[in-house]
Amino acid sequence: MIKKNSNYIRKIFNKVSYKYDFFNNFFSLGLHFLWKRKLISLLKPKNGEVWADLCCGTGDMTLLLNQLITPNGKVFGVDISEELLKIAQKKSQNLENTVINWKTKNIFDLDTKLMRFDGICMSYGLRNLNNVENGIQKVFLLLKDNGRAGFLDFNHSKENSLSSIFQKLYLRFIVVPISSLFGLKEEYSYIENSIKTFPKGAELISLAKKIGFKKVNYITLFGGQMGIFILKK
Ligand SMILES: C[S@@+](CC[C@H](N)C(=O)[O-])C[C@H]1O[C@@H](n2cnc3c(N)ncnc32)[C@H](O)[C@@H]1O
Repeated sequence: MIKKNSNYIRKIFNKVSYKYDFFNNFFSLGLHFLWKRKLISLLKPKNGEVWADLCCGTGDMTLLLNQLITPNGKVFGVDISEELLKIAQKKSQNLENTVINWKTKNIFDLDTKLMRFDGICMSYGLRNLNNVENGIQKVFLLLKDNGRAGFLDFNHSKENSLSSIFQKLYLRFIVVPISSLFGLKEEYSYIENSIKTFPKGAELISLAKKIGFKKVNYITLFGGQMGIFILKK
């Protein structure tokens, strides 16, 4: 049984915060940066636009957005985990030009009447929300007309495909045992369960169309391990 209420998620990420960046780099061999850059390159943020990185964690995507939309734009990095946000804030402290506003907040509590964005991105956040459809709907409401959004996450491949078998084996025999050495077994075991309940690409596409997005595209990366979902309002 997978517990996904926001408070449980907040506790998980606060607990793993001290090793979060280290494990991301280690387990993906640094490739997560390439996948994040790929997402940004598809979204094409421009100087002067207002963007949000929802579920920003330690702020990798927020910092990438900041580079592209300075000096006239604005970017909001929003996350429910105050411990991850502290790390994100530290990373941005020494930057010369920053237009970043960090917000410790549940994304479902963002006021859609006060906040509207030209673009929104979310990396590895959608799968962690307590309701994926509500998450996509929230993004829809937070976007200006013609706004664009992009999500990067694990791809939920077809059961028993090579990609799905590789994903399971990697998580069970590499990620969980290594994270267990740091007392984080439960937290990293959660990834496999969260992928099981995450919609597959085709399901994400139909959810986004039902919500009202005009253009929807889903691509996979790294032999089907990761997925990028691009939406236009
Ligand atoms: C796997 S991390 C991804 C962090 C970062 N985007 C990255 O790519 O490294 C998922 C993040 O989603 C955040 N999160 C989950 N549910 C949330 C919610 N309802 N509101 C805000 N943040 C949430 C967690 O705190 C966590 O930082």
